[in-house]
Amino acid sequence: MTNTLTDTTALTPAARAANLTRRDFPAGFVFGVATSSYQIEGAAQEDGRSPSIWDVFCAQPGRISDGSSGAVACDHYHRWEQDLDLIAALGVDAYRFSVAWPRVIPAGRGPVNPAGLDFYERLTDGLLARGVQPHVTLYHWDLPATLQDQGGWTNRDTAYAFAEYAAAVAGRLGNRVVSYATLNEPWCSSVLSYEIGEHAPGTRDRAAALSAAHHLMLGHGLAMPEIRRHAPQSQAGIVLNLGPQESASDHPEDIRAARHADGRLNRWFLDPLLRGEYPADTWEDVVADAPPVQDGDLRLIAAPMDFLGVNYYSRGVIGAQGGVMPEGASVTDMGWEIHPQGLTDLMLRLKADYPALPPIYITENGAAFADERSGDRVHDPRRTEFISTHLSALLDATQAGVDVRGYFAWSLMDNFEWAHGYQKRFGLVYVDYATQERLLKDSALWYQAFLK
Ligand code: FCB
Repeated sequence: MTNTLTDTTALTPAARAANLTRRDFPAGFVFGVATSSYQIEGAAQEDGRSPSIWDVFCAQPGRISDGSSGAVACDHYHRWEQDLDLIAALGVDAYRFSVAWPRVIPAGRGPVNPAGLDFYERLTDGLLARGVQPHVTLYHWDLPATLQDQGGWTNRDTAYAFAEYAAAVAGRLGNRVVSYATLNEPWCSSVLSYEIGEHAPGTRDRAAALSAAHHLMLGHGLAMPEIRRHAPQSQAGIVLNLGPQESASDHPEDIRAARHADGRLNRWFLDPLLRGEYPADTWEDVVADAPPVQDGDLRLIAAPMDFLGVNYYSRGVIGAQGGVMPEGASVTDMGWEIHPQGLTDLMLRLKADYPALPPIYITENGAAFADERSGDRVHDPRRTEFISTHLSALLDATQAGVDVRGYFAWSLMDNFEWAHGYQKRFGLVYVDYATQERLLKDSALWYQAFLK
């Protein structure tokens, strides 16, 4: 029997999405918000924290579009209690944050700084006290600068240093943390950082990027057993940035370029983790700069995970000359195409292509828009539409049998958006950087109502 008031099949995708509530999702599905250490914490020189590669990068003229840095950011290091209250007020189940390696092991390797771990312990316990699940990412790009002086991720030793750091964090926080992700988006910390040069350390060298990517993956593989040893009840996995890379046309050169783009962005990370091998076609494409893989590395990298974290923002439409924007596409303030269907497509593809696929969390999804404050309100209907249509697309994937366990909106609040500084606002919560005032945007109010 169809009740005309609740039959949503006749609605436009946006209207159908706006009517969603958490009850449409499987029981136990986790909803959260996400941030990362360098983007929100500030307090760059406090309690024994050493500089990270981002402090160094931000100090180089021309690297950050507004000349800013994360030295103060959202001042979350001092305002954490009020921020946790805000998270609880949103009504989310979970909060994903990252730990700053330079706070925990300031020299990169060697002595642990207890004051650094104290901060993350306060956060973890503060979340638990508010009934919010802590989800920790160990590496969201803030490598101790001293390690970059020795080659950073192009140096194999960094993978071993990372495993020691992972052991220190998991040793302190233990089973209180619901999930540990080793790395956030190794594509960004290798290709974007060492080949494209847009992120720290800002080099432009494909061989360096492929070496960095391999050592990041090795670091993941070495850290997993440390997490398991110190936090046997926590879930352990990794977070990748993934997106369909579609061919701009049927032309064989476009198809080939799209396949290469898919290999570099998606399969280069998925295949080692879930099949224990690098993708042969992409390896051929880059063979002159192929990374130094030692015996046993891939076995470590492919050890089973409890979850795969997926960050989804957009798809790529690829022609022989590079990425193209489909005609009539709507885009965010980052210039990224808004394409919710890509999230469904990506989920279905992961399930079809990877028999070893563990349960998935969407660990980031969101959009930057040029928000403006009007009085105490921030009207951001496009963000609400972005999030609700992506949730709807995700629901389609779960209904098609993909095992998705949760969704984290990026981001809790406006923050330091890397090379774009403070000019791109991704928050559900607006931050007035002059006063550090936080204001719930309309999208935050929508999420709150969705979660009720
Ligand atoms: C992702 C990053 C995150 C944020 C969003 C917009 O690539 O993980 O820190 O910058 O993009």
